[in-house]
Amino acid sequence: MEYDRRVIILGIESSCDETAAAVVTDGPRGPRLLSSVVASQMAVHRPYGGVVPELASRSHIRFITEVIEGAIKRSRVSLGRIDAVAATAGPGLPGSLLVGLTAGKAMAFLLAKPFIAVNHTEAHIYSAFLGEPGLRPPLLALVASGGHTELIAMPKIGVFRILGRTRDDAAGEAYDKVGKLLGLGYPGGPGVERLARGARTATRLPVAHMKDGSLDFSFSGLKTAVRLAVPATKGRAARAALAAGFERAVEEALAGRARDALRSTKARTLVLAGGVAANGALRDRLRAMTAELGVRLVVPAPALCTDNAAMIAAAGWFLAKRRRFSPLDTPADSGWEAGGAVPSNPRPVEAHA
Ligand code: KG4
Ligand code: ZN
Repeated sequence: MEYDRRVIILGIESSCDETAAAVVTDGPRGPRLLSSVVASQMAVHRPYGGVVPELASRSHIRFITEVIEGAIKRSRVSLGRIDAVAATAGPGLPGSLLVGLTAGKAMAFLLAKPFIAVNHTEAHIYSAFLGEPGLRPPLLALVASGGHTELIAMPKIGVFRILGRTRDDAAGEAYDKVGKLLGLGYPGGPGVERLARGARTATRLPVAHMKDGSLDFSFSGLKTAVRLAVPATKGRAARAALAAGFERAVEEALAGRARDALRSTKARTLVLAGGVAANGALRDRLRAMTAELGVRLVVPAPALCTDNAAMIAAAGWFLAKRRRFSPLDTPADSGWEAGGAVPSNPRPVEAHA
């Protein structure tokens, strides 16, 4: 690794419903977080039971400058000492991505410093390096959130290979839909977990297995099974049993596929990231599974698992060390996959004076 020069990176995130900024610099053995500010739009979207894209874009515009100012102030770094600005360019909601991306490019332009386009899914994996300074690839990552459920191999810094992904709903999305079906409000994850924790039994629900032996996931059948069971589920005990059954099925799918991937890649480290990593039962399940295989499990702190900019700044820190900068005309790409090339324009846009 090139640890020759100390760098200070400003990271910006606006891909979904959190507006965030953070500052990262060098620690003794990796990136070190100086500040992290997250403005959550949960209250804006809660009445609708999900993220409303148009409202998300507007909220990002409302909060972005305040959040960036807050992160710089808390880091105690003067603006002029920032070495590069990193911002999420995808995947995410197109209108939301544009707000943080444009803010990041504008700052880089005005500071006359390099700009770094960051992949949000890869950044979820980089978040693990903030809490574990000694962490080194190769590793396997399970990224599970409201928007993605993917098993990703990271053979070295900056290199990612998707081994498995969901074919329909993301794990967090399934949690949110089940939360809604059980009348638990938005987002569903924490409510479903709380309800399941009080269960004495767990309803048996189907776990999808891919017949082709692939490492992909599918959660829509499970969600449908819950929907069909809800009308006959009366009383708190029965509802708790249904929530526990759902949770167990999700855990089984995630832990089972992660185990298969660990076996096939022979990775010695598993990183669990994304909002669903906040789930205690899932953490326990993965802890048991990895212990059995003698694999090291790394789970970032909850505030680093849900969407944040510390992970964007951490990704930017690694990329800056390798001088992987991006041009200021880098477009947003709502479908940018982990490991894919940085989005670029097919041909130069003609500008008229
Ligand atoms: O990473 P994140 O904050 O945003 C996205 O990129 O989607 O993840 C949010 C997702 C939501 O679907 C939420 O229901 C889920 O993470 N989540 C949980 C828990 N806390 C949040 N799922 C299961 N158990 C939890 N405790
Ligand atoms: Zn995310």
